[in-house]
Amino acid sequence: MKKTAQPLLEEYQLGDLTLKNRVVMASLTRGRATNAGLIPTPLMAEYYAQRASAGLILSEGTWVNTKSIGFINVPGIYTQEQIEGWKGVTQAVHDKGGLIFSQLGHIGSASHPDFFAGELPAGPSAINPQTQSFTPEGFKDSLTPRELTVTEIKQTIQHYKQAAQHAKQAGFDGIEIHAQAGMLIPQFLSQATNQRTDAYGGSIENRTRLVFEIIDAILEVWDSTRVAIKFTPVALSHVGIMTPDEETIPTFQYLLKRLSTYDLSYLHIVGPAEDLAGTPVAVLQENYFHHFRQNYSGRLMVNLGFTQESGNAILNEGTADLVSFGTLFIANPDLAERFTYNLPLAESDRDTYYTGGEKGYTDYPRAVPE
Ligand SMILES: Cc1cc2nc3c(=O)[nH]c(=O)nc-3n(C[C@H](O)[C@H](O)[C@H](O)COP(=O)(O)O)c2cc1C
Repeated sequence: MKKTAQPLLEEYQLGDLTLKNRVVMASLTRGRATNAGLIPTPLMAEYYAQRASAGLILSEGTWVNTKSIGFINVPGIYTQEQIEGWKGVTQAVHDKGGLIFSQLGHIGSASHPDFFAGELPAGPSAINPQTQSFTPEGFKDSLTPRELTVTEIKQTIQHYKQAAQHAKQAGFDGIEIHAQAGMLIPQFLSQATNQRTDAYGGSIENRTRLVFEIIDAILEVWDSTRVAIKFTPVALSHVGIMTPDEETIPTFQYLLKRLSTYDLSYLHIVGPAEDLAGTPVAVLQENYFHHFRQNYSGRLMVNLGFTQESGNAILNEGTADLVSFGTLFIANPDLAERFTYNLPLAESDRDTYYTGGEKGYTDYPRAVPE
């Protein structure tokens, strides 16, 4: 088989970690923690190990506490049993020469009382985000949540810190904070879902307070070069009322400026899935990732719809340092090798994305023998 030189396949120095290539596996919720304790399983270890030829694996979004749950069979990282389960995953990935970060998430108000014995979920304000939650009985509409008290916000920040500590114990190589697409952090960033009148709402500085307090708390546990964050300012679908508004661009300008002072592992930016024309973020449409390159001084990981060709192109032109691939990793465990030998890619079966079990999870074959 013929190898070709490609920027995606170059080694990359990410702080003190040497990535064997710049092909990153993006976080993929797969609903395989099918046990009451939401404990990572040996099947999950096998799945991640199959994908260890990626330069870096980002774990599926993982709950930082019981209040953050809002989707079935997603693992947590708040109990000792969960830490033990994750040890199996990180060990399996490391045994294959891979690296793996833990993605820490909290779904906030986009959950459902079915996860809390009938109690309402909580968010920045008592405003229905108008999204959906995948409950044990299927997708259900979100409701008007309870407003988090300041004490609860402080506790949540401590839970992120504790989860980051747990990730270290479990053998992860770093942390990615899940701050995109309808989660608790974007609920605080958005004026539509955050109408608080205290230090966590109102001005841009106040709406971004939570995310910086979470980062600062995690930095008490991890070196900044092992901590990353994933954002998108352009989500139009599946985020209910948290769609971009006239404050989105100034909010991100402020975020990027402050984040530039942190020397984080990387900033992970998700691109637009739809045409932005006519939206308050229409100016971002053209040369989308350039806006982030220009306004953020650290390493940039880019995501959404990338292919081997477009991934190599964006690295070649210097607009990004790393490229992440989500959907392609589902059916192509050896994606980096397929790029290496320019092999065709398999299509994933959407019907088995969240169904539990091996089917559509660990049974996609490699194209290149190990
Ligand atoms: C089945 C599935 C589950 C996902 N779960 C997560 C998740 O847990 N955390 C996250 O940040 N993004 C999640 N995403 C988004 C992906 O990480 C990625 O941003 C998105 O798929 C776009 O990249 P792609 O075009 O290469 O697939 C998920 C996407 C899919 C298809």
